[in-house]
Amino acid sequence: MDVAVIGATGFVGRYVVARLTDAGYVVRAVSRRGTRLPGWGNAVVPLAANVETANGLGAALTGVDGVVHLVAIPRESGGRRFEAVNVGGVRHVVDAAHAAGVRRLVHVSILGVADDPKLRYLHSKWRGEQIVRRSGLDWVVLRPSLLFGEGDGFFNLVRVTLKWWSPGIIAIPGDGRTRFQPLSVEDLAIAVERSLVEPDRAGSVLELGGPEHVTYRQIVDRVMSATGMRRLKLGLPIPLLSALTAVTDRLLPAFPVSHDQISSLQRPNYTDLDAYERAFGRRPRPLDLSYLGRGA
Ligand SMILES: NC(=O)c1ccc[n+]([C@@H]2O[C@H](COP(=O)([O-])OP(=O)(O)OC[C@H]3O[C@@H](n4cnc5c(N)ncnc54)[C@H](OP(=O)(O)O)[C@@H]3O)[C@@H](O)[C@H]2O)c1
Repeated sequence: MDVAVIGATGFVGRYVVARLTDAGYVVRAVSRRGTRLPGWGNAVVPLAANVETANGLGAALTGVDGVVHLVAIPRESGGRRFEAVNVGGVRHVVDAAHAAGVRRLVHVSILGVADDPKLRYLHSKWRGEQIVRRSGLDWVVLRPSLLFGEGDGFFNLVRVTLKWWSPGIIAIPGDGRTRFQPLSVEDLAIAVERSLVEPDRAGSVLELGGPEHVTYRQIVDRVMSATGMRRLKLGLPIPLLSALTAVTDRLLPAFPVSHDQISSLQRPNYTDLDAYERAFGRRPRPLDLSYLGRGA
């Protein structure tokens, strides 16, 4: 089977490419520059294509048996907009799949997608899902909770926030009791492979989480214990953080969290504890952040 992975050089993409090549697939690894990552062998063919413009997508998808779509931005920056990447990008991938005659599409979405324009990222992911679900392709939508693993975005961001933005005290949005269900990126990669090759899965939306529910406060505790950093946790009212991030969005783009992310962080991000096992017949790995202590 030949498979195109769009967003292959990113955090999730690297694990998905490894999983697919280990299983014997030939992978077209698509990113904007067509970068070849160290460790990729002959079974990986790097290709350049851009989902915002559709440039290169036709060539990337011609002749493959399935497509994995992983491209999304979690916050807007540097002129990159949710509408163009998370919505328009999906439309271009669906159109290119139709034009190339590819039937199978695995689309990675996110738990907590919302048909609510006030939650801009989650709404853009919702709209992307709708395009996939109405595509007429043999699609599978995977909705994972937070993903952990070396090179991850979220837990490393908490580590960076502790290290560089939290001298003695770390701000916790609201009461910090919003629940999450972190899933290992390796378990997501297994879910992607199975969704690609098992025909009965077409037309499913699968909510996926790991084996425990953890609050934001507990996540901060876990990151502190993995890294040996100690900080006092201080709950800050959401309206205060919203006002602060409305300013930092404009004046301090490096601030670790955006205005939109403060709202999203208040939304529960979990599903049934046995959701992954029900879908894939195996237990997902427990939350293990030891890689953070190695500076990953
Ligand atoms: N990370 C998480 O915790 C998490 C949790 C739930 C769901 N998800 C979902 O999982 C998916 C993958 O996330 P991720 O964390 O792996 O993202 P990521 O690390 O930012 O990777 C994004 C990938 O997309 C490529 N890309 C970006 N813009 C592109 C464009 N216009 N055209 C073509 N390729 C482009 C990037 O390569 P270049 O920049 O080199 O082009 C990179 O390979 C996303 O849909 C995200 O919503 C992630």
